[in-house]
Amino acid sequence: MVKIAERLDKIELSGIRKMFEAKPKGAINLGLGEPDFDIPENVKMAMKNALDEGQTHYTHNMGIPELREEIAKKLKKDNNINTNPDSVMVAVGASEALYISTQALFEKGDEVLIPDPGFVSYKGCVDLSQAEAIPIELDFNNDYKMTVEDIENKINKNTKGLILNSPSNPTGAVMDKEDIKTISDLATDNDFIILSDEIYEKIIYTKKHHSPAQFSDNVITINGFSKTYAMTGLRVAYLTGQRDIVDEILKVHQYNVAGASSISQIGAIEALKGPQNYVDNIVKEFKRKRDLIISRLTKMGLNCPNPEGSFYVFPKVNNGNKFAQMALNTGVVTTPGVSFGESSKNNIRMSYATSYEEIEEAMNRLEKVV
Ligand SMILES: Cc1ncc(COP(=O)(O)O)c(C=O)c1O
Repeated sequence: MVKIAERLDKIELSGIRKMFEAKPKGAINLGLGEPDFDIPENVKMAMKNALDEGQTHYTHNMGIPELREEIAKKLKKDNNINTNPDSVMVAVGASEALYISTQALFEKGDEVLIPDPGFVSYKGCVDLSQAEAIPIELDFNNDYKMTVEDIENKINKNTKGLILNSPSNPTGAVMDKEDIKTISDLATDNDFIILSDEIYEKIIYTKKHHSPAQFSDNVITINGFSKTYAMTGLRVAYLTGQRDIVDEILKVHQYNVAGASSISQIGAIEALKGPQNYVDNIVKEFKRKRDLIISRLTKMGLNCPNPEGSFYVFPKVNNGNKFAQMALNTGVVTTPGVSFGESSKNNIRMSYATSYEEIEEAMNRLEKVV
């Protein structure tokens, strides 16, 4: 075989996908982070019409201007972020937004702080940029919420970035406003950049979401349509930040994908402009499922903070890999905690973005073996 580039030596494929692909017939999937709802009807219609109208050509590299305008308005209204369409870039999923941001901003010699446990792509993207990923261990006793104290002593002259993710995958933790503000001040004072992954912004129960970009200019805000509007397969998201930085990120985006899908962008415009009761309804339903899964896991004796957002639970078990195997043998796909960082070998992630009935059945199966 031809020699593969050395920088791939450290890269591992996602543990989530491995479990998903090993799914036996009849197993219930609590492994993937994908809402089980259909996309909103108005979004579907807008995309169908766009197809009929032949809107199937390349769009502007940065994204369709009308979409970028709507995103800028949304960021002002929901997040109190002052930006303008010229500083908004549409990406092929938050996955691409994360990849192109890390490629544009980080390099060998840089240190980038990432949450541990944290979403699988963070370490992968930082490793691919050849910077060093520095895990920030999150504390079970603080419900896995990242605090200023967690990161303060990890900052040094090589610190170039910090990835924040609130609400979090895999823990469901929602950071407190004070911590977000103080961490944003740290970014300004120490001249590092925050990549704020806000993809679960709307999947939140009792607390309020706060964006670090309200408090510092040293922030790239990443958000998208996969989770809020169940548009995972349509691959459309966005990022915004200081215009000069976004212009640099565009170089990676342009030579990577050229632009996002025209039809998906038209769906995204409709998602933002159309009625938002769809989102309220799915959040209500997620909350019902969260309450079910937490009460059943607690009855089984599994220790787990009550998640405030996203659609995952992250209980402690004796051994995450063994638990996942045992769960698989009883017909339930879960993800071992170690997929999200070394500190979580004794955790397991379960996604409750599946039907209420399937969650009940999965809990019945697990109850017999736990
Ligand atoms: C925290 C987090 N960020 C980003 C993504 C990627 O989202 P997208 O489908 O927009 O690429 C996911 C998907 O699971 C996620 O959980």
